[in-house]
Amino acid sequence: MKYPLEPDADEMRRLVEEAARRVIAHIASLPSQPAANVEDATEFAKNLIEPLPKRGESFDKLLDFLFDEAIPRSFNTPGPGYLAYIPGGGIFHAAVADFIATAVNRYVGVFAAAPALAQLEANVVRWFCEIAGYRKGSGGLLTPGGSVSNLIAMITARKTQLGDDFARGTLYASDQVHHSFQKGASLAGFPLANVREIESDDRFRVNVGAMEEAIARDRAGGFRPFLIAGSAGTVGTGAVDDLAALADLAERENMWFHVDGAYGAFFVLTDRGRSAMRGMERADSIILDPHKTLFHPYGTGALIVKDAKVLRQAHSMHASYLPAFQQDADLIDFAEISPELSRDFRGLRVWLPLKLFGIEPFRQLLDEKLDLTRWAADELRRMPGIEIVAEPQLSIVAFRHKTQNNRQLLDRINARKRVMLTGTTIGTEFVLRICVVSHRTHMERMQMAIEDIRAAVRETT
Ligand SMILES: Cc1ncc(COP(=O)(O)O)c(C=O)c1O
Repeated sequence: MKYPLEPDADEMRRLVEEAARRVIAHIASLPSQPAANVEDATEFAKNLIEPLPKRGESFDKLLDFLFDEAIPRSFNTPGPGYLAYIPGGGIFHAAVADFIATAVNRYVGVFAAAPALAQLEANVVRWFCEIAGYRKGSGGLLTPGGSVSNLIAMITARKTQLGDDFARGTLYASDQVHHSFQKGASLAGFPLANVREIESDDRFRVNVGAMEEAIARDRAGGFRPFLIAGSAGTVGTGAVDDLAALADLAERENMWFHVDGAYGAFFVLTDRGRSAMRGMERADSIILDPHKTLFHPYGTGALIVKDAKVLRQAHSMHASYLPAFQQDADLIDFAEISPELSRDFRGLRVWLPLKLFGIEPFRQLLDEKLDLTRWAADELRRMPGIEIVAEPQLSIVAFRHKTQNNRQLLDRINARKRVMLTGTTIGTEFVLRICVVSHRTHMERMQMAIEDIRAAVRETT
């Protein structure tokens, strides 16, 4: 082959077919794979360190290595038994879209380079605005995930509210907020001491009165309170703050209202989610992660803002070697409203499944997750010795055993390898949690989860 990096049609077909054969077999076996398989994975990973390859190897051998050795030594994150952290499903159609997007390798950072494709991605953002209840004039962008979305939102809020002299700016969120909030604040240039973690109530929702008092104290102390964050689904227990009360407070205080809906915001598609998240549509910025509750592959996040202009004002920078940016407010140059210039065409992986199916199957799946979590909570409540620490507000239930060592209980549940759960600390207490998000998790797997919890509890009683 004269140019090995330019395979001919037969070679392309062979590569794709071989890869597809392995991928399909792998996905078909997800339900029977262990929920986690990492016992020797660290040692195995250490042995992979190698110098820059000088010569190539056969494609088959490399696929064997990936599918037989490397991929299996992981948490089975897309599998039905993954009820840990916030699961990531990864719908297959999105993977196909990614294949198309990376194969055609069009550039969507600047509108002029691929107007139609940039518009498809802009449509995805518009749909997210519509889902969140935003009106005309809103906008946003797709990001690699919630942490980056948080960071971009914070920098945008900082620039909009405080200008360049922001050292006394203070930010407010509950003590249950995801740590990407503190991280984002720190990366956005604030001392961590300027982040106020406000106490939460017995349902893990922020105490709005305590937040108001903290803001007043800070103003009196010469600080510049500028951002209030509410959680539309905390990572620990799935708690949804009183977003309407936070919106009122932000309005009274003339502060930016940010909502972390990375995990929970898409539940607004359901009746129960919509009533829990009343007030979200009043936020200045909302983060929501398709790679969580829209079942997309990792690397798919979103930030939307009520007033699209603020993103442009915070990020816009041009250079003579770039094509002109669009002047029409409806047409977006993603490079102009985000920190990124070159990047993947991540919009296609959301656009294709939504166009293929419409939103309805997604809504139904989210409703199913809410039902499954409530069912699990009812089963747990009936189990001797088990106490529900956090009733489900969305698709997370947190629980503990009143007398057993809960870390050991978690290990015994996970040792069965049909499900993987994780824990968190609430106050000083370690609790277990079940988080139902994957599109592949249905009743059958939830029954296994409850059976395994019951068996693990019984083992020591
Ligand atoms: C509530 C919440 N916010 C933010 C994040 C951060 O998102 P990401 O992991 O996509 O960076 C997470 C991640 O689990 C989360 O649960």
